[in-house]
Amino acid sequence: MRNIFILCALCFMITRLPAQYPYAIIPEPASMIKTRFDGGNPFILRSSTRIKAPEKYAEQTTYFSESITTQTGIALNGALTLPRNFIIVTEAPEKITMPEMYKITTSQEILRIEIRDKRGYINAIQTVLQLLPLEKVSTAEIETIEITDYPRFSYRGMHLDVVRHIFPVNYIKKYIDYLTFHKFNTFHWHLTDDQGWRIEMKNYPKLNTIGSFRNATLIGHFKDIPAKYDSTRYGGYYTRAEIADIVAYANVRGITIIPEIDIPGHSRAAIAAYPELSTNPDTTWQVATTWGMYNRQNNVLAPKPATFTFLETVFSELMELFPSTYIHIGGDECSKMWWKQDSKTQAFMRENNIKDETALQTYFIEYIANFLQKNNRIAIGWHEINEGDIDTATIVMNWGTEKQAIEAAKKGFRVIQTPGKPFYFDHYQSADLSDSLAIHGYNSLEAVYNFEPIPNAISMAGLGDKIVGGQANVWTEYMGNEKKVDYMIFPRMTALSETLWINPTKKSYTHFLKRLEKQMIPRYQFWNSSYFPKYKQWGIAQTPANK
Ligand code: ACM
Repeated sequence: MRNIFILCALCFMITRLPAQYPYAIIPEPASMIKTRFDGGNPFILRSSTRIKAPEKYAEQTTYFSESITTQTGIALNGALTLPRNFIIVTEAPEKITMPEMYKITTSQEILRIEIRDKRGYINAIQTVLQLLPLEKVSTAEIETIEITDYPRFSYRGMHLDVVRHIFPVNYIKKYIDYLTFHKFNTFHWHLTDDQGWRIEMKNYPKLNTIGSFRNATLIGHFKDIPAKYDSTRYGGYYTRAEIADIVAYANVRGITIIPEIDIPGHSRAAIAAYPELSTNPDTTWQVATTWGMYNRQNNVLAPKPATFTFLETVFSELMELFPSTYIHIGGDECSKMWWKQDSKTQAFMRENNIKDETALQTYFIEYIANFLQKNNRIAIGWHEINEGDIDTATIVMNWGTEKQAIEAAKKGFRVIQTPGKPFYFDHYQSADLSDSLAIHGYNSLEAVYNFEPIPNAISMAGLGDKIVGGQANVWTEYMGNEKKVDYMIFPRMTALSETLWINPTKKSYTHFLKRLEKQMIPRYQFWNSSYFPKYKQWGIAQTPANK
């Protein structure tokens, strides 16, 4: 009997005292401890609670207050009723020493947020939302705690392809909200490709009237025999006003949008609109209806004055709309055979001392990277840009394996890790091919969680700081609507947020799964978002050997 008492007392102490994780927060904060401020009496959020924050963060404060109301029903309406307490936000650069860092301390009277920049405030808001109930209440308690938190990587992104399928403005905003909630800081918006041009252009209107629409779309996989197509005209594009609205929305939420115009390959939509930019100007090209164009059909820009004028004009219009320092210029999967067999391209190469087609690809990349640099912007390209000899000011986005990351880092490039395994969220998330149609390949939740973005060879060479971060890519060939995108990204995006945020020595998949269940599954439902429900059944151990 006595032993049972001792055991119970011990249980009580274990659950009450160390309380290292009083809350399930994702990504997990660097440090979270229970404190005894004000005798441990909780902070109580109520409609009379006031947020006091520097005026320059007024938009973030409004967003904070509205987010609390959406989640809990508590409207911080400034009612002058007692008792009164405060959320106080201050800049404290002497204590908050890193970008995007924040500290939250709660006592009975004050929930204090200390920051050094806007993103720190945004990150703190996401944590506070996870301390609050996900249901309508009249007041909400937050225990006395102290959270100190900062990210491991400076670039934490999610990509979305709006070419293979286009999504409404409201969904783009919802996607940005997903990013903000998970403490990402970058949205990579893939706006042009072979299957469509999705951004309004003032100076080249046929990019929209012709390039934004295709006459049919592949059904199923291209390898299916025979390949099947529908006969529905499909397309659309975002107007300049819509883009300005989205950029402003993201800016309030601390998300930088990096737009991508993919050149010199993946340009079939542009060539359909302006065949004179291609190697075969007398041919009538259609916007592509098939996925995966590499080498199969002509989709490269030809090097000629009209093309370089086109590129300067298009990238100038892009810069008018997007304030981001970084602009993505694609550079992937550029088929060289069309340049090889075109006499005018070959003449251009001879005149400009360009030794082969790989060097011509580099010529294109350098041309645009320099043009962007003159406009105080920095180019990002897929890892193929490193096939030639380009300036290391450009950032390499690696979608290959660790081999390409190592090569780029050793040459001196900064690298963003988006390896196909496991950061391509268009791949199946189980080995069950009867699951909703996806690109072949299997990237499980566990693989995303356990992936280490800095390859061993890079850390051994002392080049770890060349890996600036990571991102998942969401190619939408098999994502025809928003629910399918949600199904493919959740819960993998949640795992990625932690992979890019926390110190790797603190990673625990088991602990992550518990927080996922407690914090995120109800939230996906609250957001009316879909998610892949069988994530626990399909781990790394189930990966087929040949996948
Ligand atoms: C890519 O997947 N071609 C970047």
